[in-house]
Amino acid sequence: MELRKFKLGDEKSISKLHEETIRTINSKDYSNEQIETWPGILDNYSNLLKTLQNNISYVVELDNIIVGFGDMGHSGEIFRLYTHKDYQGKGIASKILEKLEKEAKNLNLNKITLESSLTAKSFYESKGYKIIKKVHSKINDVKHEEWKMEKIL
Ligand SMILES: CC(C)(COP(=O)(O)OP(=O)(O)OC[C@H]1O[C@@H](n2cnc3c(N)ncnc32)[C@H](O)[C@@H]1OP(=O)(O)O)[C@@H](O)C(=O)NCCC(=O)NCCS
Repeated sequence: MELRKFKLGDEKSISKLHEETIRTINSKDYSNEQIETWPGILDNYSNLLKTLQNNISYVVELDNIIVGFGDMGHSGEIFRLYTHKDYQGKGIASKILEKLEKEAKNLNLNKITLESSLTAKSFYESKGYKIIKKVHSKINDVKHEEWKMEKIL
């Protein structure tokens, strides 16, 4: 298993992984309407490359397949952390999260923030993230709920 920085050309595999994980893993916790209005799926990944290039973005590769990715803004906000649907529970997200936390420390940031899905909430809690509040939003009139969480570094 190799953890490396995102590079140009990864975006196709990442968008496929992202969509498949949402449709198979997150769909256990969300309605069809919520899945169809999920950022990325809704906008057909129009901004994916730009945001991955702007953020601190990592992938994990196994046998030349991207099996996980995560990205964090330069002020310590994790935007996405997704593991391939067929590689869940093998320590992939933990590896990426650990690296993003190191990167945040290198930037002298004192905390990491994120908005977690219901699916990932207990994963983040097990990594020391605390719930700050529940965030309600509406995308195309469909209600979404996330949990704003943070970890002091
Ligand atoms: C949440 C997610 C990223 C975890 O990825 P993963 O690679 O399977 O996680 P890991 O294998 O590194 O898990 C590490 C630990 O967390 C636990 N864990 C993983 N997913 C969990 C979950 N959903 N709930 C509770 N615990 C979880 C594992 O049991 C493991 O515990 P251990 O270290 O004591 O054995 C993955 O389930 C996923 O892709 N979810 C859908 C995408 C998503 O919602 N991402 C967040 C968007 S905000």
